[in-house]
Amino acid sequence: MTHPTQIKSVSINDAATLLELSRKTFFDAFLHRNNAADMAAYAETAFTLPKFETELSNPNSQFYFAWVDNAIVGYLKFNHNFAQTEFQDPEALEIERIYVLSDFQGQQIGKLLIEFAIQTAIDHSLKYIWLGVWEHNTKAISFYKNKGFEQFGNHLFMLGNDEQTDILMKLDLY
Ligand SMILES: CC(C)(COP(=O)(O)OP(=O)(O)OC[C@H]1O[C@@H](n2cnc3c(N)ncnc32)[C@H](O)[C@@H]1OP(=O)(O)O)[C@@H](O)C(=O)NCCC(=O)NCCS
Repeated sequence: MTHPTQIKSVSINDAATLLELSRKTFFDAFLHRNNAADMAAYAETAFTLPKFETELSNPNSQFYFAWVDNAIVGYLKFNHNFAQTEFQDPEALEIERIYVLSDFQGQQIGKLLIEFAIQTAIDHSLKYIWLGVWEHNTKAISFYKNKGFEQFGNHLFMLGNDEQTDILMKLDLY
């Protein structure tokens, strides 16, 4: 049986929907393990409509929704060229965000999204995919390892006033 999830491109007209989904999935994933003031400080600048409209207008970034029936249950953002948050290697693709609503996790939706990103990178003859993941996000780290990603470095990430360590992971495609 084919998987009921469909992956569809997100347009600029969907900016408000994407913003709400992004905010919700971010808070659901991280609020219980972080200081509420740091989360709020981060959210104030990260989750604004102008910021999302700018991101959606960048030709080097792509957003996709995962749909099940008539509901949006997750999303993916990837970057190439100068939209990448580090390195800007033209032969790489960065997965900047991948989120599935908690009620839909563990149903192979994240897997479909990440496989879509991998196939896109292969279609564009890119050499590798990379991403940053919070060192304490063990669930996501296991998910990436399951797809063959390996650690290649670290970087610092400011969540409000909290300096956190992100693990950088990559998947070589050739
Ligand atoms: C991480 C996330 C995107 C994974 O999506 P998901 O839909 O829950 O995962 P899937 O059901 O597609 O799982 C795919 C594979 O990863 C494995 N996997 C998923 N979670 C796992 C875990 N906690 N430990 C080990 N393996 C795991 C599954 O077993 C499955 O393996 P299989 O292909 O062999 O069957 C999702 O859980 C999520 O949105 N988490 C919160 C937000 C987040 O942390 N995003 C990443 C920020 S960097």
